Order: sequence, then structure tokens, then C-alpha cells
Amino acid sequence: MEKLVVKGGTPLIGEVEISGAKNSAVAIIPATLIVTGEVLLRNVPEISDIKKYYEVLEELGAKIERIDKNTVRINTENITKHIALSENVKKFRASYYLIGALLGRGNEAIVGMPGGCNLGARPIDQHIKGFEALGVDVKVEEGYISAKAEKVKGEHIFFDVVSVGATINVMLSAVMCDGVTILENCAKEPHIVDVANFLNTVGADIKGAGTDTIKITGVKKLKTQAEYTIVPDQIETGTFMIAAAVTKGDLVIKNCIPKHMESLTAKLREMGAIVKELGDKIEVKADKRLNKVHIKTMPYPGFPTDLQSQMGVAIAMAKGNGSITESIWDSRFAYTEQLNKMGAKIQVAGKRAIFSGVEKLKGAKVYATDLRAGASLIIAGCLAEGTTEIYNIEHIDRGYENIEEKFRKIGADIEREEE
Ligand code: EPU
Repeated sequence: MEKLVVKGGTPLIGEVEISGAKNSAVAIIPATLIVTGEVLLRNVPEISDIKKYYEVLEELGAKIERIDKNTVRINTENITKHIALSENVKKFRASYYLIGALLGRGNEAIVGMPGGCNLGARPIDQHIKGFEALGVDVKVEEGYISAKAEKVKGEHIFFDVVSVGATINVMLSAVMCDGVTILENCAKEPHIVDVANFLNTVGADIKGAGTDTIKITGVKKLKTQAEYTIVPDQIETGTFMIAAAVTKGDLVIKNCIPKHMESLTAKLREMGAIVKELGDKIEVKADKRLNKVHIKTMPYPGFPTDLQSQMGVAIAMAKGNGSITESIWDSRFAYTEQLNKMGAKIQVAGKRAIFSGVEKLKGAKVYATDLRAGASLIIAGCLAEGTTEIYNIEHIDRGYENIEEKFRKIGADIEREEE
């Protein structure tokens, strides 16, 4: 079992390069199934969820050629299967995109139930509602989902809740539909736009991604060759922005999109940090203890739930009493118990956590309860007095490329050790 050992007390100073977006890549890689040909993807993060996805695609018959750490050529010409039931499929959440992608390719999919971070109930009723509206017969069986249509047919769909997964999945299934599909009450996250841009690059006709309404005009054929570069990761960017501010550091975060960070930038400025937007870079610095803030997580462009736990560290150390209201996931406060072990004073009541700001944290043995919780514990470890040992780091490896190297390069004392 591996653990991360962090010795705290140094401000994070220097430059850090952001990787490609996990939540784009986990949709674009299955989206290559809709293309019966060859796609070259650049800026793909090297994380364990992506490695699992390559294996799943290979199991389906795709050829995966790793050109370098972040570039991959995927050839989907010879895929004849529509059944994905291996153990790999069940190991991560985003395997649900196989349903939309296989429907998009051949109107038929049998896919194992997805796994992933335990964030409480993670229903996929909106995905199913969307597929059914497009004429797909969906059956939820013991451990898998089967979806089949004579032909996916264009329809007008209004989602009951704003869902990243449902928006992307139904979009994938509709790329080659008969007629026109209109999706309303869509999620607007940067990765939705990125997936739509990828699909348009390969010949789809998708308009409106990034707004509430997406219009997909079914096309008869897609290109058989394409190249695409995945957008920078919004959440990794935010993780380093928070790390800079809370350690009273000074970081220039390179290869990011400041526009995607506006909700966080506003909150960090409210806390007293200095945030400068410099083209495709952001500089974040702070020289004093941050002020408390109140946060409510919301779908984009609101404050992202995926930055909630990292921001929790900043609020835990701020002057005064702040709060976080989580409105996306029922269970995303598990990290607060770990921070409390380090000396934080956080009380959780349902979907709200109240933070009584403390002046210091101390090192402890802590457990990453999910991917973003793990990132928050690294930040807390950098701040704390003494040594923090972080366990369950496989969660962190699912979504952050080279995390300890990136932190080490900006001054953190962090090592990966075998227990
Ligand atoms: N929801 C439904 N029905 C559905 C789908 C969602 O009720 O059919 C509800 C969920 O229960 C939740 C809300 O809608 O309350 C939003 O869920 P969404 O579908 O947007 O989440 P997701 O697609 O499963 C993605 C990210 C998550 C991120 C959320 C919210 C991927 C692979 N995952 O999940 O990322 O938290 O959107 O932004 O894109 C992470 O990266 O750490 C992570 C968990």
C-alpha cells in the first residue's frame, strides 16, 4: 500500500503546469468509439481512470498507441462489440459514457454498472430518460445496463436536473441520430463544451454547448481521421490556486483558462488573496491569513463541488467563521473529519458545514475519502506543523497527474512511500 508523506510549513512558490482535463478526457476517449477511424488526442492526463479507459477500449477491439505520456492515437475501425462488462468497467464512474458512445456508434450497448468515488447516491435516471426519449429501449439489469434502438431518433428533451453526465451521454448517443435532438436544462461545464468541440471536429453538428440548450443535428457520416487537444483541467487549476493562497505562497499556474476559474477567483479575492489573470496563466499569491467566506456549490458557472474540499482547507484556516453548503452531492464532507484530526474545527449538519477558523493545523494520519478530499489533504499537509501521512491515495491517482512531483517542484516536502 502506498501513502503520501508530507512535511508541512513551506509556502508554495514557483510555476506549475496544468494537465488536460480529467472530466473531458473520460468522455472524449469513449467518444472516439463513434468515429470509425483514427483519432489523435493530445493533452490527455496520465491518470489511472484514463489508463482503465484505454484497457476498456482495447477490450472492445480498439487499437491504442501511446505516442508519449500525454498523446495517444486511438483506432476504432475494427470494433464489432457493443458489450462492455469487464471488471475494469465497474471500477470508475465515467464508464457510463460507454452507453452513449456505443449507442452513437451502433444503436446498441450493454455496459456494466459504473463505480467511482463514493459521494452518496449517484443516480443515472436522467441519462436513461434521455436515451428513452430518443427511442432507445433501456433495461437496468442486475449489475449492467442494456440499451438498444432500431435507430436513435432526434427528440426534444428537458432534463429534470442539471447533470454533467446526462448532458454528455445523451449528446454522444445523438450524434448520428435521425433528425434533430434538442437538449434543455443542460450542464454548462467547460468539459461539456470540450466534448462538443471534439465531436464537431470529427464531423458532428452540435450547437449551443456551454448554454442551457444544446442542438444536435444528426449526421450520416463522421470523418475517419482527426486530431484534438483536450482543454486544461479546471479543477487541477483551482486546486493549485487554493494551495498558493492558503500557504501564503506565490504560484504562476500555466496552461490554464482563467475564464473557467471565475467563481473561485472571486472567492479567493474576497478572502484577501491576489489573483492575476495573465492570458493562459494565473498568478495567485497571499501574504497574510485569509478572511473567512461562505460558499455554496452549484453547477457551472457556480462554485464547483469538485473544489469544495480544497476550499474547505482555506476556510478551516481563515479568520472567523465561514461555511460551505454542498448542493450537488449528499456526501462530500467526509474530508472534514480528517481535517478535524489535524486540528480544524468543522461541524457538519446535513448539507452544510460550519468552519471555526483555526490558526494552525498539525500533521496526522489521514485518509483520502475521495479524489478531491485527497487533494485537500495534500494542501492541509503542506500547511500543517509536522508530518502528515495520507492513505488511500489511489483515489488521488485517479484524477491528478504526477501530483507529488508537481507539489515538490513548487517547494512542498512530499514523498510517496510504500507502507
Ligand atoms: N443526478 C440525478 N440524476 C442523474 C444524474 C445526476 O439526479 O441521472 C444528480 C446527482 O445526484 C447530483 C447532480 O445531479 O446531485 C449532478 O450530477 P452530475 O450528473 O452532474 O455528476 P456526474 O456527471 O456523475 C460529474 C463529474 C464529477 C462532478 C460532477 C458535478 C465526471 C466523470 N464526473 O459527475 O466529478 O462532481 O459532474 O460537477 O465528469 C470529480 O472529478 O471529483 C468528480 C466527482
